[in-house]
Amino acid sequence: MGVMKYFSFVLVVVMVLSVTHAQASKKKNWCSETVPYKMGMEKMTKLHFYFHDNITGDYPTTFKIAEAPGVSNTSSTFFGELYMADDPLTVGPDPNSRLVGRAQGFFGFSAQKDLSLIMGISIVFTGNKKLNGSTISIFTRNPIANTDREFSIVGGTGYFKLARGFVTAKTYWASGKNAIVEYTCNIVHY
Ligand SMILES: *[C@@H]1O[C@H](CO)[C@@H](O)[C@H](O)[C@H]1NC(C)=O
Ligand SMILES: *[C@@H]1O[C@H](CO)[C@@H](O)[C@H](O)[C@H]1NC(C)=O
Ligand SMILES: *[C@@H]1O[C@H](CO)[C@@H](O)[C@H](O)[C@H]1NC(C)=O
Repeated sequence: MGVMKYFSFVLVVVMVLSVTHAQASKKKNWCSETVPYKMGMEKMTKLHFYFHDNITGDYPTTFKIAEAPGVSNTSSTFFGELYMADDPLTVGPDPNSRLVGRAQGFFGFSAQKDLSLIMGISIVFTGNKKLNGSTISIFTRNPIANTDREFSIVGGTGYFKLARGFVTAKTYWASGKNAIVEYTCNIVHY
């Protein structure tokens, strides 16, 4: 009897494995059908904080990572200079006030005739339990010579999934390439 029983056990195992394999092959259908989708109710959250961008000084948080050789160093608008930033965001204009998050990403001088940046940053919030770890993505033109500016919010994660909206930004203080900017975020999300 032993041999027969062993043989049918092996057969069952082989059958189970081939069914599993067939299911795995079906999963190779990597694109789902497109079906109607209803978003939940739109909500608006407003956030207000100060962004500290130091390129020089004792504790810089923004560093030049590239430039256009032979162009950026003769350009009156720093055209082609690219920076990577990990800037603190605080509740008040004082850099020692409570930290609410960080702005991480890059910005580059993108205009030959004006002082203007292209800015792609992700803001991660850490200031309270509700928003902890959630992000908003900003991709925008930033004409830094104007005191008042508007940035576009193009997405988000966590609490701010599917976010869009805008930031009204106002230069609070600037010295050379260091600045404190007041951010008021108007975030529409679900
Ligand atoms: C700019 O950089 C180039 C090399 O990339 C150098 O030849 C030139 O002298 C520099 N010009 C100035 C004004 O520093
Ligand atoms: C940025 O630099 C200024 C001096 O230019 C300094 O007073 C300030 O504390 C620095 N900010 C941060 C966040 O380190
Ligand atoms: C945010 O999350 C981190 C890591 O998950 C945790 O260490 C921290 O205490 C949290 N902060 C708040 C304010 O909830």
